[in-house]
Amino acid sequence: MKNTALITGASSGIGKELARIHAKNNGDLILVARRLNLLESLKAELENKYSIQVIIIELDLTEKDAVTNLIDSIKQKNITINYLFNNAGFGGYGDFVEREIKQDLEMIQLNVTALVELTHGIANQMIENGGGKILNTASTAGFLPGPLQATYFATKAFVVSFSQALNQELRSKKISITALCPGPVQTEFIAVAGMSKSKMFQRAKSAEYTANKGYNAMMNDKLICISEPSLNFLINYMLWMVPRRMVLKMVDRMQRIH
Ligand SMILES: NC(=O)c1ccc[n+]([C@@H]2O[C@H](COP(=O)([O-])OP(=O)(O)OC[C@H]3O[C@@H](n4cnc5c(N)ncnc54)[C@H](OP(=O)(O)O)[C@@H]3O)[C@@H](O)[C@H]2O)c1
Repeated sequence: MKNTALITGASSGIGKELARIHAKNNGDLILVARRLNLLESLKAELENKYSIQVIIIELDLTEKDAVTNLIDSIKQKNITINYLFNNAGFGGYGDFVEREIKQDLEMIQLNVTALVELTHGIANQMIENGGGKILNTASTAGFLPGPLQATYFATKAFVVSFSQALNQELRSKKISITALCPGPVQTEFIAVAGMSKSKMFQRAKSAEYTANKGYNAMMNDKLICISEPSLNFLINYMLWMVPRRMVLKMVDRMQRIH
């Protein structure tokens, strides 16, 4: 395989668009998600259109040993990963104490634990192979606490922090890590998070727009990519001036759907 990208959460939304962009750039792909039928049709679409090879892996990344087995199978097949897209993730709406704790623990398992384990395994392989690039899909949710999506916002704060620290650690080893931080994006995320009635997504960007921003930022070794200019301005120049309690009230109001 050549110029190979491993993409988690490639069956829909941002991950699917990242796969399309990489294929257009003549790169081979390893696509991971749970829904095999969607991965199969994406593989067919991309192999028909471009001279590339696509491997699909049906995998629930929250299952015990899933990531370990994924890393081992890549090693056994002697595949060199040049690009890693840690993109799979989901959110969940509601008062924390009223939510099923199982769902929030699964969210931490996917958004945080699987991402950390996969980054560790693939970054080590990249070091052996002389370098690589990693794009972690975080969120603008990673820059502020999120009442009514408390666990989700916290998982993305982890991804923003973790990605920046590793960027510094791995610079000298020719590995770049970029955190993609989108605002609302029109994907299945909205329904999965139980937020179909939320007004927040009325002006959501497309998955294609967001994936392009992230892909270009990764290629240019950027540290953070806040994919919407207006949110970039708010987060970098305004947020720090607003009292914390006011931020909490604003986020609560923005998210409330009833
Ligand atoms: N949409 C937004 O407003 C928004 C904003 C900021 C950040 N993000 C982040 O963007 C990333 C991509 O989300 P999206 O918006 O593109 O939503 P999406 O369309 O729901 O995509 C999520 C992807 O993750 C995969 N996935 C979910 N659970 C999985 C599991 N247990 N094991 C393996 N794969 C799993 C899904 O595939 P299967 O169901 O086939 O497994 C799907 O391919 C997420 O990390 C999300 O937090 C989204």
